[in-house]
Formats: sequence, C-alpha cells, structure tokens
Amino acid sequence: MDLKQYVTTVENWPKEGISFKDITTIMDNGPAFKYAVDEIVKFAEEVGAEIIVGPEARGFIIGCPVAYAHGIGFAPVRKEGKLPREVVRVEYGLEYGTDVLTMHKDAVKPGQKVLIVDDLLATGGTVDATIQLVEKLGGVVSGCAFIIELEDLNGREKIGSYPVKTLISY
Ligand code: PRP
Ligand code: MG
Repeated sequence: MDLKQYVTTVENWPKEGISFKDITTIMDNGPAFKYAVDEIVKFAEEVGAEIIVGPEARGFIIGCPVAYAHGIGFAPVRKEGKLPREVVRVEYGLEYGTDVLTMHKDAVKPGQKVLIVDDLLATGGTVDATIQLVEKLGGVVSGCAFIIELEDLNGREKIGSYPVKTLISY
C-alpha cells in the first residue's frame, strides 16, 4: 500500500514555516490504519519486543494497537504532572519548544526488551528522551518505530545504533 497518499500536509501549522504532517487521515481510514499498525507489529516481532513504550499523545495511537496485537504491555511516556506515582524525568528539545517527559519508575522492568513507537521522527528529541527514560529504568531498547520520518531533521542521529523502522520518508 502507498501509505503516503493518506498523509495530509498542512502548511504553516502550528507555526509559520512548519509543514505539518497530519496522520489523522491515516487513522480514520480503516485499511490504511490497519496496514500502518501491521507493519509495526511485524517489526515488533523481528526485534523481540516484550513491551511497547509510546510518548503521548500520538505515540499512544500507534503503540497501543501494536501491543494489543502481540498481547504484550504498553507503557506510556507522559508530559510532566500527568502520571500519579513516582516517575523518572528527562528534559528534551522539541521541533518547536522544550518540555519534560516522564515515566512511572516501575513501568519497564530491568532487562525487558522495549520497542519505542511514535507517529513521527523529526529532530529526534522525543525519542532521545524516551530512550533515556527506558534506560534509566534498566530497560533494553530493542528498536524504534515510526509512521513518518522527516529526513532533513536528522532524527536518526539521536537514535544511534538501535534498529529503526519508518514507513514513510519526506
Ligand atoms: C510530535 C510527534 C512526535 C514528536 C516528533 O509530538 O508526535 O512525538 O513531535 O518530534 P521530534 O522528533 O522533533 O521530537 P508533539 O510533542 O507535538 O505532541 P503530541 O504527540 O502530543 O501531539
Ligand atoms: Mg508526539
């Protein structure tokens, strides 16, 4: 399937000069959404994922069905102040701004093989912070998967040598 045809590009949103890739038009199309999730389900199997970790909000949309398909768990990465118990935290730079991401301290078990799933790899700030969170918990990052990669922003450099799967590149 040519998944790219289901992505909607919105110019100058949320700020002047940003060319926003809107995946809601993948999500609201049953066959396109199923294809995208199934591709990441296959990758999760290849890397032997034992738990899926996804950053809010769009990482939940893609990561949860991948976890469900394998009958494994999903651990959320959330912005500061959203998780009710003890957390680990990492500050990170975003494509537009800075923020803090957190995970519950017991969300990933030491030695557990983690697949990080998000909708989009841009500068890599979000995935870099997520890798740091997983490693603080003693988790083993076995791969990172995204629907879309914005190649010019060099996000892959932040991921280093971990296996990466992306379905669409710009
Ligand atoms: C977007 C996107 C990725 C991240 C990619 O999330 O969903 O998570 O930016 O950018 P990066 O590689 O430069 O970090 P955003 O923080 O806008 O929030 P959302 O998922 O809650 O919409
Ligand atoms: Mg996001």
